[in-house]
Amino acid sequence: MTADFSALTFFVVTYGCQMNKHDSERVCGMLELCGATEVSCFEEADVVVFMTCCVREAADVRLYGQVASIKNIPLREGSPVAKRIICIGGCIGQRDGAELINRMRHVDVVFGTFNLGVLPGLISRVLAGERGIVAVQQEGSEFPTSLPTVREHAWAAWLPIMIGCNNFCTYCIVPYVRGREKSRPMEDIIAEARRYRDEGVLELTLLGQNVNSYGRDLFGEPRFAELLREIDGLGFPRLRFATSHPKDISDEVIAAFGTCKSLMPALHLPVQHGSNRILKLMNRVYTREAYLEKVAKLRSVRPDIALSTDIIVGFPGETEEDFRETLDLVREVGYQQVFTFIYSRREGTPAAKLPANATPQEIQERFDRLVKTVEECAHACNEGDACAVIDVLFESVSKKDAQVLTGHSAKNQTVHVEIPADACAEAYIGRILPVRIEEAKTWYLRGVFAGE
Ligand code: 5AD
Ligand code: SF4
Repeated sequence: MTADFSALTFFVVTYGCQMNKHDSERVCGMLELCGATEVSCFEEADVVVFMTCCVREAADVRLYGQVASIKNIPLREGSPVAKRIICIGGCIGQRDGAELINRMRHVDVVFGTFNLGVLPGLISRVLAGERGIVAVQQEGSEFPTSLPTVREHAWAAWLPIMIGCNNFCTYCIVPYVRGREKSRPMEDIIAEARRYRDEGVLELTLLGQNVNSYGRDLFGEPRFAELLREIDGLGFPRLRFATSHPKDISDEVIAAFGTCKSLMPALHLPVQHGSNRILKLMNRVYTREAYLEKVAKLRSVRPDIALSTDIIVGFPGETEEDFRETLDLVREVGYQQVFTFIYSRREGTPAAKLPANATPQEIQERFDRLVKTVEECAHACNEGDACAVIDVLFESVSKKDAQVLTGHSAKNQTVHVEIPADACAEAYIGRILPVRIEEAKTWYLRGVFAGE
């Protein structure tokens, strides 16, 4: 039986990766199906759901601060609850369970990454007077697919194809909180993709911690390339996927960048480090040379492919020489975008036992140098598109300027275009239109509608 939450308002706060953002869409979908109304601030919310991330320590700290601070925010006028209901889900919920309630007595519900679907039932129990409920389950037996979703945009959808990770990189907590790789049946994925296509979705992103392993647990071998080809056949204007482990991206998947019409020329391929010694300590199972070979293959199939990556600075034992190898690699690959992270020690991971050798100041200084190099590379990539006419999917009016539309190119660059005189923004949002690029900045392109 579906709970009746029609008198309730809720606010979902999301930290972390796309997988978490997608889980939040499922939480919103379930609560709306029960009649609750989504709001966008603590003040208006009877129920607050935190979807947490524990990949780096900063997110932990922020969560504790935010949960503590909402204690003092009064309920909205006419709220049907006597006390705001606070729920913590996601990776910290999974990792810390009951400890969260011991540390923060005003938290009502803790749930994990494997049992999102139980949240409405848990909220009903709180409404009936229960407090301090912990519902964290170890590895779900089934892929949590049948939950409804509320999508942020009508024209873009994320589609999880697998959850979990088997890789155990030595710095990473994800395998401990998201469990082992579990692939979703291919028919389910294709049926959901077809539904999105019929609803008019223009951009579909396949999600998983390591999508290249898709199917290994179901079929004894990865079948990601086959899945890509099937979904390509559905005819979305734009198809993307994230994330790929470099060791698992096969020649067949690389070839798909040449043959799948809808597959966009952009790939996130996290390298993490440029030094073979550190890659080994990280248990990444590839060398710098093997990574560069994959890059060369990708570029031979799709010369215009834009590459993005993740890099960690200050892994235990990193020397200045190791770090320089990272800088060199960034220049050699010429990334369009790099997500840069300072190593964060995560209790329970093998790297947490390794001694640090560089000081925080040294690490910060390396980080700043990396950011500078990354900016140079990003700018150079964008310069390559100056004067070109490129397709842009328009998503919103710019936050900074109401006269400017913002969208993304096929290569995932942010593109700003001034709204033509006498036109209204709504006429452009959710459409893919050609834009002539007039200016290339480090983090965005600026252009005009082509033909004007
Ligand atoms: N410290 C810093 N960065 C980390 N990442 C994962 N674990 C850690 C950690 N302990 C980064 C990796 C990964 C990205 C999602 O987060 O670069 O690819
Ligand atoms: Fe973490 Fe490595 Fe798995 Fe990525 S591949 S989720 S970095 S363990």
